[in-house]
Amino acid sequence: MGETVRVLLTEEEVDKRIAEIAANINKDYEGEEIHLICVLKGGVFFTCELSKRLNVPVSMDFMSVSSYGAATKSSGVVKIIKDLDQELEGKNVLVVEDIIDSGRTLSYLLEYLRNQNPKSLRLCTLLDKPDRRVVKVHVDYTCFEIPDEFVVGYGLDYAQKYRNLPYIGVVELD
Ligand code: IMP
Ligand code: MG
Repeated sequence: MGETVRVLLTEEEVDKRIAEIAANINKDYEGEEIHLICVLKGGVFFTCELSKRLNVPVSMDFMSVSSYGAATKSSGVVKIIKDLDQELEGKNVLVVEDIIDSGRTLSYLLEYLRNQNPKSLRLCTLLDKPDRRVVKVHVDYTCFEIPDEFVVGYGLDYAQKYRNLPYIGVVELD
């Protein structure tokens, strides 16, 4: 059994929208510095494309998290695979995520980061599947709201494949 990928958002559409979101962020953080936190691995492409378009001073750090198995998933506990290198105290932290689905990962992560006393803490996501939300998460910047379909590309994977696609597609099993 194989799968095909149907284009949902073209490279041009994604690039255009990221530029719009970057412009909003530039306006909101005028005169400030931003500490970007990229959530690995899916957030890498978005973090790169977004950060290239920011014109306020930017620093970056990377985190890798994974959900615990199904048994503990409802608790919303995620496992930290790679923690931050730099402290957050006094920084304007902007978390950059690929997609928000149930919201479990992000609600845990935001709480974890908030406890480190950043000056401010906001969330920016490339994609949001609001229909799938289980835990409420406040999202400050959303590029696209999408229907409840499994998507790949632009950093997102299906069994570790397709992250390199320059567009966002829906996986269809055939
Ligand atoms: P949440 O904790 O349910 O919000 O899970 C978010 C994480 O699940 C994302 O960071 C992705 O790694 C993964 N995920 C959720 N939906 C998709 C999808 O459609 N494609 C690829 N990964 C997804
Ligand atoms: Mg992710």
